[in-house]
Amino acid sequence: MNVTFQPDLFKGKAALVTGGGTGICRGIALALAKHGCDVAIMSRSREHLDGTAREIERLGVRALAVAADVRDAAAVERGVAEAASAFGRLDIVVNGAAGNFICAAETLTPNGFSTVVDIDLKGTFNVSRMALAQLKVRGGVILNISATLQYLGTMGQAHASAAKAGVDTLTRTLAAEWGRHKIRVNGIAPGPTEGTEGVRRLTSEASRAGVVAQCPLGRMGTIDDVANAALFLCSDAASYVTGVTLVVDGGLWFTSDRMFRND
Ligand code: COA
Repeated sequence: MNVTFQPDLFKGKAALVTGGGTGICRGIALALAKHGCDVAIMSRSREHLDGTAREIERLGVRALAVAADVRDAAAVERGVAEAASAFGRLDIVVNGAAGNFICAAETLTPNGFSTVVDIDLKGTFNVSRMALAQLKVRGGVILNISATLQYLGTMGQAHASAAKAGVDTLTRTLAAEWGRHKIRVNGIAPGPTEGTEGVRRLTSEASRAGVVAQCPLGRMGTIDDVANAALFLCSDAASYVTGVTLVVDGGLWFTSDRMFRND
């Protein structure tokens, strides 16, 4: 895929990407860095962060690894302050830290349900809320990584679907409330994306083949597909776009298991 954005698209700007050490959010962090942005990445375990932070630095911008659990509002507040003080500003926040596993609601424990809601939904609120004061200084962008699970009754995903549905409503509410601060709040809902922990944990070889067969665009998503959408939504090209969750799934969610089969 040959997609070109101006190399200095985010020059002089600074971003905080939660979950930025691995997977989709590592891809977004690196894409921002490639386009001139200083990038802080936040995750609860430092082992996920250091390698990616070094890769970001090798792209010629400043990097910061912040070990903080997004469920812990006080730790998030310290992490946001650390990023803002290291870079002197904060323009972009990407909420990507997430947890998931497959478990039928019948066997899911209350703590299992809460754990995923706490990471995905409360974590998104905590980071957005703690970053607000910094984002208000010059205006900014929040990008929430969602999913398409919640659009259908996805079995084994009561916890993640509830959490991501909450994230989508938070995207709209924060967009409505914080537009006056010149803060745009959008989301991306990726479908199954190659090379991610989510695909490794949640899919089998057979289900991946099913995705390719059912997806109108005939393939799994890539981390670059999602990162390119993120660059657009974080850039001034999207300066009049807020409160939107952009689905980046090749059209999979609205076709899967709904087609008439010849066989
Ligand atoms: N099936 C059912 N329940 C599960 C589970 C599984 N595979 N994994 C964890 N749980 C339950 C636990 O049993 C526990 O509930 P309990 O106390 O009632 O037994 C609860 O979830 C918390 O588990 P714990 O392992 O203590 O949580 P954690 O905070 O250490 O881990 C998770 C969070 C569970 C989301 C873990 O999978 C994780 O860290 N994931 C991060 C990476 C990831 O999921 N990436 C994919 C994103 S799509």
